[in-house]
Amino acid sequence: MPNRVSRRKFLWAAGASGLTAADALAFGRRRCQPAVPCPPHPCPPFPHPIPPQPPAPPVPSLMIRPNVLSLDSARLESLRRGVMVMKALPDSDRRSWAFQAAIHGTTDTSATDPLFNQCKHGTVQFLAWHRGYLHFFERILRWASGDPSLTLPFWDWTAARVLPEAFRSPADAKANPLYEPLRKANDGSALPPDVVVDDLTTALGQTTLPGGESDGFSADLEGSPHGLIHTLVGGPGGVMSKVATAANDPIFWLHHANIDRLWDVWLNQGGGRANPSDPGYLDQEYTFADETGGTSTVRVASILTSAGLGYAYEGVPSPAASAAATTRATATAAAPPPVAATSADAADRAAPLDRVKPTPLGFEEKRVKLNTVPEARAALARATPPAVGAAAAAPTVKVIVEGVSADAAPDFVFRVYVNLPEGERGDAVLRRHYVGSINFFGKTRQDRRSMGHGHAHAGEAEFDATFDATKVLARLRTGGRFDPDALAVTILPTAPTAPALTPAQVTAQSVESARQAKASFKRVSVRVHAGK
Ligand code: C2O
Repeated sequence: MPNRVSRRKFLWAAGASGLTAADALAFGRRRCQPAVPCPPHPCPPFPHPIPPQPPAPPVPSLMIRPNVLSLDSARLESLRRGVMVMKALPDSDRRSWAFQAAIHGTTDTSATDPLFNQCKHGTVQFLAWHRGYLHFFERILRWASGDPSLTLPFWDWTAARVLPEAFRSPADAKANPLYEPLRKANDGSALPPDVVVDDLTTALGQTTLPGGESDGFSADLEGSPHGLIHTLVGGPGGVMSKVATAANDPIFWLHHANIDRLWDVWLNQGGGRANPSDPGYLDQEYTFADETGGTSTVRVASILTSAGLGYAYEGVPSPAASAAATTRATATAAAPPPVAATSADAADRAAPLDRVKPTPLGFEEKRVKLNTVPEARAALARATPPAVGAAAAAPTVKVIVEGVSADAAPDFVFRVYVNLPEGERGDAVLRRHYVGSINFFGKTRQDRRSMGHGHAHAGEAEFDATFDATKVLARLRTGGRFDPDALAVTILPTAPTAPALTPAQVTAQSVESARQAKASFKRVSVRVHAGK
């Protein structure tokens, strides 16, 4: 039966074209016999069983930036060769290692190239600028390596907290272009989990992007883990520790590839996470050096997705290009909620910061007692229900260290704790009370001076360090350790240890570093933000 149906259909089609079934069959048979050549053009009309297909759209092939741990020896060799070739170019070549690093920052005050000292820190442009910078660097590195498949690897420091082996060994800058002698992490010590796990978790939990002065994913990520890792990898006097020298260390590029990867990871989490869509952000332009030795200018709008630049990260799906937010890059100046607790006396609670005297932050623990505003007690209790796992729309408690500033970045980090019991300093206790760290990388008076151009607050180096304390307080409440009338914030300096130094030497070095850094803050406040 099926045969007969198809035959009848066939006859109808053949009849419509004026051929008899026999003609058609004969023609078909002839076509199937290679010995008999096809009749000359034009061929008789004959319905083809498969209508002509439009050409398949080209499959966009993304280059994959791999985890540094998955590099095989051939790819590692390409990477080493690329770095070596770049380092051998004369500094005046825009593709040279020295020139590329100076685009980020340079200590050479006589260097006047307009491409120098461009890095964007403490603003919402942090992620986009560094993405563009990495993209053109990667193109130069690929050109220099002579390996057309070379891509920039990333260092996922959450999974591998120790500096990748290839960057430590051989420990010889001549034999190993990835080695940098001025780097604390060469000692093989692991980055602390409160920075690479806890701080990252806090940052990824943010649902808006804005950075800089406002409080969102970019600001959190830039502070810690990003900034803290700079300090911890570089250590005292280390190349990575200062904005003006950081990009000279080969690990800089892998650290930033990971920061760039986390931007994709953050977008992929959904829940309203998206890039800002206002023209003030999208129309920003940056100029970099490219692999021809010339310059290229890109708009933020054209580098918002990694796929748009032709790459993706190993194990991370490309975020949708449509991820544009209705939120703005620049914080809409909604009035902050009233202060719930503060280090200031009742009379000075709302005094403008320029009238508040700074409190120096040296290399010693600072415990700041807070006065709870009686009317805020109920709101504090509501924001910190004793059950962990707060709902998305629940209120949040923010601890703000206001008016922070420093002349130079200290060689150690300041960790911030809420209600840390006096005298108890075990790792578990510390982690239970930890809300985040104060980051000075890219935020000192020195940095503001050298990056003078393009900054909204040029010359002004004071910032607020904001921490989400909701989870910590809720956990303390669950454990019966939360008294809304006894809030205190502890700022605890921690110096990276160094195997070559005794603890006394580390302390002496840190005290000296603190003397030069001249860090201070003005006030500590707690505010309760209503849920969205
Ligand atoms: Cu512009 Cu991690 O630095």
